[in-house]
Amino acid sequence: MRYSDDVIEEVRIRSDIVDVISQYVRLQKKGNSYFGLCPFHNERSPSFSVNREKQMYYCFGCGAGGNVYTFLMEYENYSFPEAVQYLARQAGVNLPVVEESREARAQADYKTSLLGIQKLAAGYYYYQLKQDHGAYAREYLQGRGLSAETIHQFGLGYAQKSGGGLYRYLKEKGYSDELLKDSGLFQADEQRGMYDKFWNRVIFPITDVQNRVIGFGGRLMGEGKPKYLNSPETKIFDKGRNLYGLSRARSSRRKNIIICEGYMDVISMHQAGFTNAVASLGTALTTGHSSLLRRYTQEVLMIYDSDEAGIKAALRGIPLLRAAGIHAKVVDLSPYKDPDEFIKAEGGEAFQERLSQAENSFLFQIRMLEREFDLEDPQGKTDFYRAVAQRLLEFTQDLERENYIAAIARRYQVEKQQLHKLVNNLALTGAGIPARQEVRGPNKRKEEAESAREKAQKLMLTWLVNKPEIFAEVSSYLKPEDFTTPLYRQVAAMLYEQQEKEGVFTPARIWNQFQDPEEQKAAASLLNAELPMESEKELGKAVTDTLLRILEDSLQQQRKKLEPGDMKALQKNMEKEMELKKMKAKFGNKLPNLPG
Ligand code: GTP
Ligand code: MN
Repeated sequence: MRYSDDVIEEVRIRSDIVDVISQYVRLQKKGNSYFGLCPFHNERSPSFSVNREKQMYYCFGCGAGGNVYTFLMEYENYSFPEAVQYLARQAGVNLPVVEESREARAQADYKTSLLGIQKLAAGYYYYQLKQDHGAYAREYLQGRGLSAETIHQFGLGYAQKSGGGLYRYLKEKGYSDELLKDSGLFQADEQRGMYDKFWNRVIFPITDVQNRVIGFGGRLMGEGKPKYLNSPETKIFDKGRNLYGLSRARSSRRKNIIICEGYMDVISMHQAGFTNAVASLGTALTTGHSSLLRRYTQEVLMIYDSDEAGIKAALRGIPLLRAAGIHAKVVDLSPYKDPDEFIKAEGGEAFQERLSQAENSFLFQIRMLEREFDLEDPQGKTDFYRAVAQRLLEFTQDLERENYIAAIARRYQVEKQQLHKLVNNLALTGAGIPARQEVRGPNKRKEEAESAREKAQKLMLTWLVNKPEIFAEVSSYLKPEDFTTPLYRQVAAMLYEQQEKEGVFTPARIWNQFQDPEEQKAAASLLNAELPMESEKELGKAVTDTLLRILEDSLQQQRKKLEPGDMKALQKNMEKEMELKKMKAKFGNKLPNLPG
């Protein structure tokens, strides 16, 4: 189902964002904006803002943001067309009726069809569990301590012994073999044709953050191999960017998120009241996971098996979480294997106790490092402290490093001053810094350069949105192509087009273009960035400065992409560079038609 851009825009204009969000969040006017408690994360003081002029919302706490459609998609889990329909009804706009056959629709939106299949499949498995032939599966789940309510909440199901039921069911609904193949729910061979992938298993539907079913896990109800069978990755199921249970955990209103490895663990924890638990989907933690988690929390409690494999997994995950700006802690459940077993044996209170004893991830890393050295041997001990000092050097902030030096000194009963000296000596001489760190240096610098570049582009876009009076001057020097970050280039192109055609910019309208939540989020943070408070006089200078910087970056980037030996292009690039230098010389630090 697709509505035309005009219809989408008309409905949006007729639905005032403050009115719509007020139905969900208590808002208070403060200056130009309305503020309230963010419905997308847990907070005590309001950092969720709604701006009537821009028709956008933005949370300064968790970064959620967008227009009125985004809000309903996030809050109500509506699909985009559903959000349009809902608002059209409220605003009294008659939507054109779009009649499509199932086949035509399947053509029109492949992803929507795949989602439709997963949803029907989830319903099918759920229904099977309730039937007479589902008795054994129900007993299995009850035997594992799950209540009827929990089974319902997680939509658990059952795939029958004879595996052809789901295929027939979905064929009846009119889906093509091709699409069904792409759904990951079936296997095909020449003799048997298509048959169900899951049979004689209890079924765990996997949802994305918007609570849409995107895949399944299936467990044998006894011994055997493989114990778990999981959907393969598809267009809608990216294991590196989804976490089991997150659609529920994200609104748990606890201060952290627990990450573990098993479906059953997540369910057991939720049932015991730990509704902030999620699991990775049979894969190691990825940067996709860490940035996903960062959208909802600043603190993650990691629970991995207490065996070697589990320790390895934790050690691999910690740097990823840290890089995303998450404080990670490691929970020890020994002697139990996993949360499910722990809770069953010791109960929720004891589990809470273990959570609150979670170990700081750096201290955990050091404790694991310790196992590689013989601390009884003077040389071993020295080597260990040097290794620790190296790790401590990785903290770039003085205060943070100091705190960790103190913590390590306490734990290993060495003099703080001694450790301090060791760290300083290492820093001064660079001696003993492993190669890994040397590589990390330039990388880090590269990241910093990138983020400075992004910042300049972001700032410029924010100015253009909030100070339309500078558009004419800026746009005569700076083109959308000069924005090197793809998303920013896209936003710049839209902004330029709106300004040039209509003379105004309507930020909320560009949201109709971003229907992917991740992109929406990035774009929202972009247009809601806080402007530094310049006086008009400073503004002109600051804009000029930023403009030159973006142009320089743009030239530099272009040069990097040149084919070696393409002298003509190089020549052109250098000419542009000369122009830029002349421009700088001519205008000094401010373009003529900017304020100041
Ligand atoms: P239960 O035995 O049901 O309590 O499962 P568990 O979660 O304790 O199992 P385990 O620790 O062995 O595995 C953790 C997670 O790894 C599971 O939830 C699955 O996602 C995945 N996994 C486990 N076994 C298999 C397997 O045989 N194949 C695949 N593909 N994944 C598995
Ligand atoms: Mn288990």
